[in-house]
Amino acid sequence: MNPFYQDVLRGLSAPFKQLDSKYFYDQQGDQIFEEIMDCPEYYLTNCELEILSQQSAAIIDTVLAYQGAFDVIELGAGNALKSSFFLREMMNKKASFTYFPVDISANVISLLQRELPASLPGIRIQPLQGEYLDALHKATSLSKQNKLVLFLGANIGNFSVESALRFCEEIRHQLLPGDLLLTGFDLAKDPRIILAAYNDKAGITKRFNLNLLHRINTELEADFDLAQYEHYPTYDPQTGACKSYLVSLQEQTVRLGEADFISFKKGEPVLTENSQKYTLAQIENMAAQCGFQLCRHFFDSRKWFVDSLWICA
Ligand code: AVJ
Repeated sequence: MNPFYQDVLRGLSAPFKQLDSKYFYDQQGDQIFEEIMDCPEYYLTNCELEILSQQSAAIIDTVLAYQGAFDVIELGAGNALKSSFFLREMMNKKASFTYFPVDISANVISLLQRELPASLPGIRIQPLQGEYLDALHKATSLSKQNKLVLFLGANIGNFSVESALRFCEEIRHQLLPGDLLLTGFDLAKDPRIILAAYNDKAGITKRFNLNLLHRINTELEADFDLAQYEHYPTYDPQTGACKSYLVSLQEQTVRLGEADFISFKKGEPVLTENSQKYTLAQIENMAAQCGFQLCRHFFDSRKWFVDSLWICA
C-alpha cells in the first residue's frame, strides 16, 4: 500500500494526532518553502547563507587538514543555493569530487539535475531521490573516496533531540574513520525571534502547514476543509522545542481514501512539525555521544546559527 497513505492513517489514528513533516515537500510545498526562506522573519536561511558564502574556503581547508580528496554527499539538498557556494569553492580549488545531492522531493531532484551543471559547469553530480539513510547508503557505495556529508538548513531540527542522536549514530555507522559531517543547527536565542520565524506576518508558514492537508486531499483522496484548521506555532525556550500544529476549528469527520474516516474534536491539535533549537553544549554532547569528534563550529556574525563540523572518531 502507498506509504504516504499508511503514514497519514497511522498518524491521524494515534491518540495524539501527528503528520510527518517530510510530506510537506510536494511541488507546491517546495515553492511555499522558497517563499518562507525569502520572508523577513525566517532568519535561518540568511544566517547559513552568510556562513557558506563567507566561510566555505575555511570549511574546505579544515576538511582538507583532516583528509585528502573527498566526495560531497548532501542530505536534503533542496535548491542547493547554500551548498552552491561551497561547491563553487571546491571547483575553484580544482578539487576532484562527485556531488551526491539527496532529497525526498522528486521535483527538487530533477531541478538540480537540470540546473546545477548550468551554474557550476563541469561539476560531477549524481542526484539521489529518497529517504536520507537509504540514499546515503547508495551514495557511500558509489563513492570511491573519503566523504564529507552535508546536512544543512537545520533539517536536523525536524527530529526530536533523541531521534536526532539516533539519526547521527546511523550516519556514523555508514561512514568510516576520517569521514566528516557538517550539520546546520539553529541555535537557541531570544524566544520572540524564534517564534516569529514560524509565525510570519504574511501568513506564508500558515499556507505551508495547510498545504499538507491539500496534498493529502489530492494524493490520498481525502476531503479536508482547509478553512476549518488553523496554524498554531509554539516555542518552549526551556527545552528548545519549536513545534507547529494544525488545530481543528470544529468537531468534524474527514474521509481518507475510499473507506477511512478520521474524527477531530473542536480545538484538537495535530502536530505537523518539529524545528528543534540547540545550545552549543547540546551539540558538542551529541557529537561525542554518537561517535564523532568536534572539529570546528562555523557561526554567522550574530551567532544565531552554526554549521558544526565533526569527524568520525
Ligand atoms: C527546513 C526543516 C529547517 O524547521 O525551520 C520552515 C522548515 N517549517 N518554516 C524549519 C520550516 C516552517 C524548516 N526546515
